[in-house]
Formats: sequence, structure tokens, C-alpha cells
Amino acid sequence: MLTVSHVELRFGARVLMSDVSFRVTKGDKIGLVGRNGAGKTTLTRMLSGDGQPAAGSITSSGSVGYLPQDPRDGDTSVTGRSRILSARGLDDALRRLRQAEEEMGSDDAAVAERAMRRYTQADADFGAGGGYAAESEAATIAANLGLPERVLDQPLSTLSGGQRRRVELARILFSAADTLLLDEPTNHLDADSVRWLRGFLQDYPGGLVVISHDIDLIEETVNKVLYLDANRATIDVYNMGWKHYLRQREADEARRRRERENTTKTAERLMAQGLKMRAKATKATAAQQMMRRAEQMMAGLEGERQQERVAKIDFPKPAPCGKTPLMAEGLSKSYGSLEIFTDVSLAIDRGSRVVILGLNGAGKTTLLRMRGFREGCHQCSKRCAGARTPLSWSP
Ligand SMILES: Nc1ncnc2c1ncn2[C@@H]1O[C@H](COP(=O)(O)OP(=O)(O)O)[C@@H](O)[C@H]1O
Ligand SMILES: [Mg+2]
Repeated sequence: MLTVSHVELRFGARVLMSDVSFRVTKGDKIGLVGRNGAGKTTLTRMLSGDGQPAAGSITSSGSVGYLPQDPRDGDTSVTGRSRILSARGLDDALRRLRQAEEEMGSDDAAVAERAMRRYTQADADFGAGGGYAAESEAATIAANLGLPERVLDQPLSTLSGGQRRRVELARILFSAADTLLLDEPTNHLDADSVRWLRGFLQDYPGGLVVISHDIDLIEETVNKVLYLDANRATIDVYNMGWKHYLRQREADEARRRRERENTTKTAERLMAQGLKMRAKATKATAAQQMMRRAEQMMAGLEGERQQERVAKIDFPKPAPCGKTPLMAEGLSKSYGSLEIFTDVSLAIDRGSRVVILGLNGAGKTTLLRMRGFREGCHQCSKRCAGARTPLSWSP
């Protein structure tokens, strides 16, 4: 269904991977792994047909459903339901159905009759595309991803970022594409939804390429692993499940380490011998060749070693804060007429670790975003004298 042959991918001048070949066929459940920045997202985007590799080719037969890591916002005036149904081209018929339904109630007999004819046509189109069964299938997928009916009827512009992403995921899953490409699908999902997704992907009859930090999901769904090794700029294909892959990769790395050690020893021996032979005029040319060869071997190793280095990051020691660095009194928040919470008071003592729990859409992010939290506490500065709490915030 997807064939990748001798592909090279770059970001600017930097080669992310070269000479990569693999296939994704029906029933393949592939976990694409590799450290951050290795190029997993870039590869997946190319697999979806967006962009051209620097070399080699990617060909696909059959349909591909792609969930990008950062979905772009399209038309946000449509409802969630309509967006999901668009995956099978049902959104247009549904829109015409709803419009005709409204106009059928018109007092003007001519308008009502025209609407009736349009309704019949739209209903036929809707039915031809799988119709009501498909609509309920879409709603089931959405519900399992934490999107109830009420939310599906709202335009995307009124949904939170997390809800929109879930609509996108629902759309891709509903599309029933021959191959699914999911770039971190569990972002923004709660535990129940993740569990449901695992089951869905296990049973999925088509091909799948998934990138995920959720090890349980990878372990339970994949039967092949593609390991994108940023150091060697290549992909190792493991035709096995997760547990076997971990063992096999460890063995492969140990083997490569041994090979490097052997190369180092050989290079050192060559260098030593070259230095010794250099003194004799008759052997000077040979000695030079040996030393050059040794240097080349070492340079190759150095390249690998340098790339393996990881950035060393120091976190500054935070300034001391008061006994109760965070306090809020009587917090309320509404979006329009929708009241998210009222009269919330809290005090968080130094050293305590607090978890904020609540259903999706309950207002957890909203609470964290509120000024008091983002900018430290102003109100209580008198009570915890000298307190300064620089807060960092990760959305
Ligand atoms: N927006 C960007 N700005 C700068 N560099 C980027 C950007 N997106 C990707 N890159 C480069 O491309 C490389 C691969 O990125 P990506 O495909 O997102 O990796 P992954 O998905 O494995 O984390 C990164 O290491 C980085 O060098
Ligand atoms: Mg990525």
C-alpha cells in the first residue's frame, strides 16, 4: 500500500535519514520510534504525500488517513460532526438535509415543496454514502474519544484545542482509509479514550504507522518497529513486536559498540606502528599511509561519538518563596453564558504537589491559564511577605 525506496530526507542542508526503504501493507501495524527531532514527523508527512523526499521515491496505492502532529486549522465554522463526516464525503449531503428540513416547515407552499424535493435528493445521496449507519458509527467513535453529541453540534471555532484535535482523530479513524498515519494520536486524550484507541487500532484491518509516547499503545498494537536512529541517519526495520524489538536493538547496539572498540584498537595499533616505522627512510611512505589510515578511522569514530552527545542543561535554583506561594480567592470564569467555575478558593503550600482532576472540558486548562497562576500571586503578597513565585507554564 505504501512503498518507500531508497529515500533521503533533509531539513535544510541537514540529512535526517538516507537510503531508507520499507513497505507498509495491509495488516502491518508499525511503530515509528526515535528520539525527538530525529525526523519522525517529517517522514510521516512525506508518507502522507505532503512534500517530496530529497532522493528516492514514496509510492502509495489506496487511501491514506493522516493525523499530523500539529493539525492545521481549516474551516472552523463547520460543526464537529460535519468535519468528521467529511472523511467519507457525507458532510455535504447532511448539510443539505438539515437545510431542507428547515425550509420544509415554511408557510410558503412553493418553498416547502421545493425543499421537499431537495430533501429527497439529499436523503438519497446521504443513503448512498452509508447514510445513517455511518453517522452513528461516526458518533460512536467521537463519543469514545470524549466528544459527546452536544459537542459535535458546535462549530469548531467554539471548541478547545484538545477537542478540535480529537475531532481530527475521529475524522481519520472514521475515514476507514487503507493506511492510517497517526502522529502522536494520544495527545489530548484521557485514559479511557487511550484505552479505547488501543483496541480500535488492534482490530484495524488496514495498515498503520503510529508515532506515540504511550508505550502501552505501542506494545499492544504494533507488530513491526521502525527505529529512526538520528546518529546514523538511518532507519532500522524490525519485523517483530515491541518486546522483541527492545531486546534485539540492545543486542544491535552492543554489537556496534564492540565494533567501535575494535576499530579504535586497530587504529591505535596502526598509529603506533606508523610512528615507529617513520624513522626509517625506506619505510617512510608506508608509515605515512598507515598513519593516514589510522587518522581516517579515528575521524569516523569521532563523528559518531560527537553526534551521540546530548545537551547538558542546568536548571537555575529557584528564588525562595513564601510558605504559601499560591493562593486564590473567589475565582470565577465563564465563556459567554457557559459558566466554567465560580467562587474557587485555594491555597497551595510550598512543597505540596497538587493534581487537578476533572472531565474533559471541565476547565482545568482554563484554571491554570488564569492570571493568578501564570503570573504568581499578587493578592497574597502581604500574607507571605517577600514571596515571589515565578511560575512557568506549559500548555
Ligand atoms: N519548525 C522547525 N524549525 C526548525 N527546525 C525544524 C522545524 N521542524 C523540524 N525541524 C528540523 O527537522 C528535524 C526533524 O523534526 P521532526 O520531523 O519534527 O522530528 P520528530 O518528529 O522525530 O521529533 C528537527 O531535528 C529539526 O532540526
Ligand atoms: Mg514529531
